[in-house]
Amino acid sequence: PVLVVDYGAQYAQLIARRVREANVYSEVVPHTYSTEQLLAKNPAAIILSGGPSSVYADGAPSVGADLFEAGVPVFGICYGFQAMANALGGKVDKTGLREYGSTETTILGDGRSVLEGMPQHQKTWMSHGDSVHQAPAGFDVLATTAGAEVAAFANEEKGLFGVQWHPEVKHSEYGQQVLENFLFKGAKLEPNWTTGNILEEQVERIRQQVGDARVICGLSGGVDSAVAAALVQRAVGDQLTCVFVDHGLLREGEAEQVERDFVAATGVKLYVANEQERFLSALAGVSDPETKRKIIGREFIRAFEEAELAIIAEAAAHGEKIKFLVQGTLYPDVVESGGGEGAANIKSHHNVGGLPEDLQFELVEPLRALFKDEVRAVGAQLGLPQEIVGRQPFPGPGLGIRIVGDVTKERLDLLRKADAIARAELTAAGLDNEVWQMPVVLLADVRSVGVMGDGRTYGHPIVLRPVSSEDAMTADWSRLPYDLLARISSRITNEVEGVNRVVLDVTSKPPGTIEWE
Ligand code: XMP
Repeated sequence: PVLVVDYGAQYAQLIARRVREANVYSEVVPHTYSTEQLLAKNPAAIILSGGPSSVYADGAPSVGADLFEAGVPVFGICYGFQAMANALGGKVDKTGLREYGSTETTILGDGRSVLEGMPQHQKTWMSHGDSVHQAPAGFDVLATTAGAEVAAFANEEKGLFGVQWHPEVKHSEYGQQVLENFLFKGAKLEPNWTTGNILEEQVERIRQQVGDARVICGLSGGVDSAVAAALVQRAVGDQLTCVFVDHGLLREGEAEQVERDFVAATGVKLYVANEQERFLSALAGVSDPETKRKIIGREFIRAFEEAELAIIAEAAAHGEKIKFLVQGTLYPDVVESGGGEGAANIKSHHNVGGLPEDLQFELVEPLRALFKDEVRAVGAQLGLPQEIVGRQPFPGPGLGIRIVGDVTKERLDLLRKADAIARAELTAAGLDNEVWQMPVVLLADVRSVGVMGDGRTYGHPIVLRPVSSEDAMTADWSRLPYDLLARISSRITNEVEGVNRVVLDVTSKPPGTIEWE
C-alpha cells in the first residue's frame, strides 16, 4: 500500500481517499509508528500528512531521518513537508506570517518533477504558520509563494518530494495532478486498484472465512448494511439470512426499498420483523433526545435478538448453527488516527442502533478497508438500485430524532409526508449531489398562527436543514435556490395538514449540529 502517516489533522483520510481515486491502494497509519513499523508494512510509497503542530514545539511529532534512506519514495505535505525538511537539515522558520486559504503560487522553471505539466501560476490551498526557508542539501526548489520561499521541493534521485500546500483539498487547483505525479512519476506506481478488484477480492475472502457456515446480517435501510449484505450474498448465497427490523421510524418508501427492491436486486433471504407498535409504545411521552436514542437503541437490540432466535431455531431444525454476523464497518471507523482523541471519538455516540457486544458470533466485515464513496461504487457494481447506493446519510434512530417533542404515529406520518415532498423536489432540481443530507424536522412542540382561506390556523413549523459536508464532522448550510425553497414550502404547507410554516436552518456546524436532536 501507499501509507499516509497521520500527523493529527483531519486531512490524512482525505489524502488516502485521493490516492485511491487515482486507483492506488492506500492506508492511514498513526505518526507514532517507528520507521521500522512503517517499513514492515512494505509500503510502495509514503505520504506524510499535514498536522496542527510546529516542528519546533515541545513534543511535536517528528520523522526519523532513517526513513529517507530506506529507498521508499516519500511525499511530504504541509507539516509533513516541514518535518521532512527539518529531518534532512533544511531550515524551517517560525515566520509568524501565516498563510491561510487560497494562495497565489509560482511554479519555478517550467514545472518539473511532481509539478510537471502545470501552469506557472496557480492557486493552492495553504494553512501554515512556519515555513521552509532553505531546502535540504541535494533538493531542488520547485515553487514559491509570498509567505513560503520554499513552497515545494524535490530530490528526484532519492525519490523525496514535498509541497507546503494541501494538494488533497479541492481548492488546490492542480492538487490531484500533483498527487498523481508523485504516485506515477515520482514513485513509479501503477494505477491498478479498482472497485472491480475489491469486489472479487472480498467475495473470495468471505468464502474463505465463512466456509459452509450460516451467516446473519441486519439491514438498516442504509448503504453500508445493504452493500455488506449484497457482497456476502454474492459470496455464499443462501447461507446468508438478512434481518430487517422495521421500527416505523424510516422515511417514506424506505421499508419497501429494503423489502422489495433490495431483495429483487440480490435474491437475498430476508426476515422482516414488523416492530412499529413496539417502538411507538416504548417512545410514548418521551421528548428528551438522548433518552429517545437510548430507547430506540435498546428496543432495536431486543427486536434483533428475537428475530435472531427465530432464525437460529430454523437453522437448528436443519441441524445447522449460525456462526457469523455481517457488519458494515467502514474504514474511517477503524483507522488508527494520529491524534488519538480524534474524529473516531466524536462519532462514537452515534453508534445507536448498533448491536450488542456480547453476541456469540464471529464478525464478517467486508467493508472494513473502504471509504463511503468506494462502498457506493461496489454497491453499484453489485447491481443495487441507485436509491439505495446513492442514499444520503440517515441516522439510526431515524425520524425519532427529527420530531422535536414526543413521537406519535400521527406526527411520524406528517413528517414522512413533508420529508417526501422536500426530497422529491430536491431530486427534481438535480441537486442531490450538491447536498450531503437534508434533515426535515418537525417542531412538534411549537405552534404558530397562520391563515388559510378565510380561516385562522394554528399549526406546526417544518424545518429544512440542507447541508454540504465532506464527512459530517463539519458542515455548512446549503445555499439552495430560492425558487426550489419556494416550491418545497408551498407544497408542504398546501399538502401536509397541520403544517403552516416552513423555515430554513442557516447555521453551520459548528456551532449547530446537522440533526436538531
Ligand atoms: P450531528 O447531528 O451530530 O450528525 O451533526 C452528524 C452525522 O451523524 C448522523 N447522526 C446519527 N447517526 N445515530 C446515527 O446512526 C445517531 O444517533 C445519529 N445522530 C446523528 C447525522 O445524520 C449526521 O450525518
